[in-house]
Amino acid sequence: MQTLFRIRPSIPDGKSRWMSAVDTPAISLILSGSSTDKIPMVQMTPDIMEAFRSCKIFPLATASRDGEPNVAPMGAVFPRDPATIWIGNQFMKTTIRNIMENPRACLYVWGPGIKGCYKIKGDVMIKTAGDEYETMRREVAKAKPGLVCRSLLVMRITEIYECMPGEHAGDRLV
Ligand SMILES: Cc1cc2nc3c(=O)[nH]c(=O)nc-3n(C[C@H](O)[C@H](O)[C@H](O)COP(=O)(O)O)c2cc1C
Repeated sequence: MQTLFRIRPSIPDGKSRWMSAVDTPAISLILSGSSTDKIPMVQMTPDIMEAFRSCKIFPLATASRDGEPNVAPMGAVFPRDPATIWIGNQFMKTTIRNIMENPRACLYVWGPGIKGCYKIKGDVMIKTAGDEYETMRREVAKAKPGLVCRSLLVMRITEIYECMPGEHAGDRLV
């Protein structure tokens, strides 16, 4: 049984944000301040983080400004903290162009032997300098010597959906 609580009727850009409470919560949601007037921060639970770590390849979907869709396989995808995913741009073409035009992305977490399946959407920032970019550049070079991380995509999670077939397929969890 799932209950939805409206955190706030609307946020400044007009989108609604909902908090989902389930009998066994799959997702936790915290607020960025003490007031419910703040935009909530969506967080992955330890189960989702674990599924993430077990998954090797992630289909990353983006869209151009005028809505042309694109999907590409990505391996350099890391949950940095429960609310943030890092993605290394080594070879992106359409993906990076789309993110520059329309800074949103979506991926799913699933693979053989992985418990659960989650669709994750978020806002993306591109970093080509600074500590975070340098960290990713080092990690990519360490994983595969000679490989150059051209930029770091920092995805701030905004929504998580259930993807397992069944009664709750497609439900927004947070
Ligand atoms: C298994 C696999 C993993 C990949 N991982 C990455 C990655 O982490 N980063 C990256 O930039 N490209 C990666 N690539 C390459 C891109 O998917 C490929 O260059 C693709 O054409 C990019 O698509 P786009 O032009 O739509 O951006 C990977 C490809 C495969 C097959």
